Amino acid sequence: MTQPFGSYQNEIYLQGYGGKLPPFTTDATKLEASAEKILEPGPFSYVAGAAGSGATARANREAFDRWRIVPRMLTDATQRDLSTTVLGTRLPAPVLLAPVGVQSIVHADAESATARAAASLGLPFVLSTASSTTIEDVATASGDGPRWFQLYWPDDPDVCASILARAKKAGFTTLVLTLDTWTLAWRPADLDQAYLPFLQGEGVAIGLSDPVFRARLEKTPEEDRPSAILRWVLMVTGTDKSWDRLSFLREHWDGPIVLKGIQHVDDARRAADAGMDGIVVSNHGGRQVDGAIGALEALPGIASAVGDQLDVLFDSGVRTGADVIKALALGAKAVLLGRPWVYGLAHGGEAGVVHVLRSLLADLDLTLGLSGHRSIAELSPRSLQRS
Ligand code: FNR
Repeated sequence: MTQPFGSYQNEIYLQGYGGKLPPFTTDATKLEASAEKILEPGPFSYVAGAAGSGATARANREAFDRWRIVPRMLTDATQRDLSTTVLGTRLPAPVLLAPVGVQSIVHADAESATARAAASLGLPFVLSTASSTTIEDVATASGDGPRWFQLYWPDDPDVCASILARAKKAGFTTLVLTLDTWTLAWRPADLDQAYLPFLQGEGVAIGLSDPVFRARLEKTPEEDRPSAILRWVLMVTGTDKSWDRLSFLREHWDGPIVLKGIQHVDDARRAADAGMDGIVVSNHGGRQVDGAIGALEALPGIASAVGDQLDVLFDSGVRTGADVIKALALGAKAVLLGRPWVYGLAHGGEAGVVHVLRSLLADLDLTLGLSGHRSIAELSPRSLQRS
């Protein structure tokens, strides 16, 4: 039995019965509006923005709304077990922190703060290749916490191998290869401000600290930072890859490999055929293909096609405990939480991330029990109804 996450509610209401106000809202659907008041326009738009018209980001939320939980009563749900194991990583609850780059644009403590927050709750931190903090420094902050590494695939095999070796050495157990962002989408909110954080030197720490990458440069990043930044950005974006190249990653990574950004059932089958260990059904929070299906729409078909061959994870649009329940009932083993904790980081660094995560876990725990489930293993499509 895991710790009762729902007890966060008591901490807020009780405190000598007068209650203790939470540091900021407990409603993840209100975090974006509240973050807009504290962030500069460039960083705010970079986090909140989406591709094109924003239709895919909206579709992500609409897809959740089309499924409804059908609560059951008298199920003895006082004690609940939210724990699970995903690809050898034990999770106290079926939630991971989605890989999010350039965290320095929302808070100076950046990835280290988030990694500490994740570790304090035992949730996996998935470190982005676009991190503003080095692999080694994040590992130090993460301590004994579970950690996975997300790869934007550098178009230089030796640099790629070097980064994978560093991640492995620093205790990152699972590799998440993101497929949907081999080049940046048309993002009007960023374009209208000519704001791309990488070109301002944010989110490039992993490349600029890599010895093999540095050996490629005529001048060190300390001598000529703009040239080093541009070389790195062009190495990790702009070149699409193909299925036959996945074997390279197998050769250089001996742990589980997960493909992130799968939305078509045929791609899910190809991932299984290629011997991948997991997939993340995701559309990158609507940040890449405008006019795409809501990610949750893709989940049931993919889970029934490949769920018995690999671990199916989900992200894009998860905001509440009910959302986690819906994704799990439709076949996900766990979800990745994205923008909400980034807004938490903006509001209060490590403590802000902890508040957002504890709020989600409490909401999940309480909604699970109140809908008549004693464990996440009891969730199935029968827990839901399409409305
Ligand atoms: C992301 N995401 C992302 N994904 C990834 O694989 N590597 C990365 O570096 C980033 N960076 C990133 C930055 C920002 C600011 C955001 C908002 C998102 C995508 C992320 O992992 C996840 O797929 C989405 O955030 C899920 O959508 P929601 O739930 O945030 O709407």
